[in-house]
Amino acid sequence: MAKLAILASGSGSNFEALTVALRGSCHEVCLLLCDRPGAMVLERAARLEVPARLISYKGRPKNEAESELAELLEENGADLIALAGFMRLLGPELVRRFRGRLVNIHPSLLPAWPGTHSIERAFAAGDNELGVTVHLVDEGMDTGPILAQARVPRQGDLAATEAAIHATEHLLYSDVIIKLLNNIAEKTC
Ligand code: GRF
Repeated sequence: MAKLAILASGSGSNFEALTVALRGSCHEVCLLLCDRPGAMVLERAARLEVPARLISYKGRPKNEAESELAELLEENGADLIALAGFMRLLGPELVRRFRGRLVNIHPSLLPAWPGTHSIERAFAAGDNELGVTVHLVDEGMDTGPILAQARVPRQGDLAATEAAIHATEHLLYSDVIIKLLNNIAEKTC
């Protein structure tokens, strides 16, 4: 058994997909860390009975908030940390402390369209092939080594394209994370 912690700021659909997928494995989501009071992901965590903590970044230096975050990850025995819509660039100290154990999902075929509003920008540019990338986190914005990608064809409108991309994210992220956790636990469940 290996333990996954998830960092999220918003809706939390990837958080929910990972939590449900892990329930069919021998691994567990040990902790949700969220930086936004009132984020929907906190409601999902309560419903799914996943322990959750709010990390406040307001009115304090970023490295102080990140030290608290790192302590919680260690206290809760997180083997792997999945960023799932966590809307902050992690500081270099935090990245160094957990290097190789921090994973992110991004809704584009990186290195195309890093940063925010990737789907909208790719769609507006007329891309016929969009997609999803799972990668290790480094100090840059969506720049770490790529672990997996999935292509998603452009749909009739932006909303349908976004829906197709999010559905693909949920499958790809669960698959990659379970494989990584299996490697950590050195067994397949
Ligand atoms: C996803 O599109 C993810 O790729 C990006 O942020 C979004 C989070 O969505 N990093 P959700 O909160 O998991 O629904």
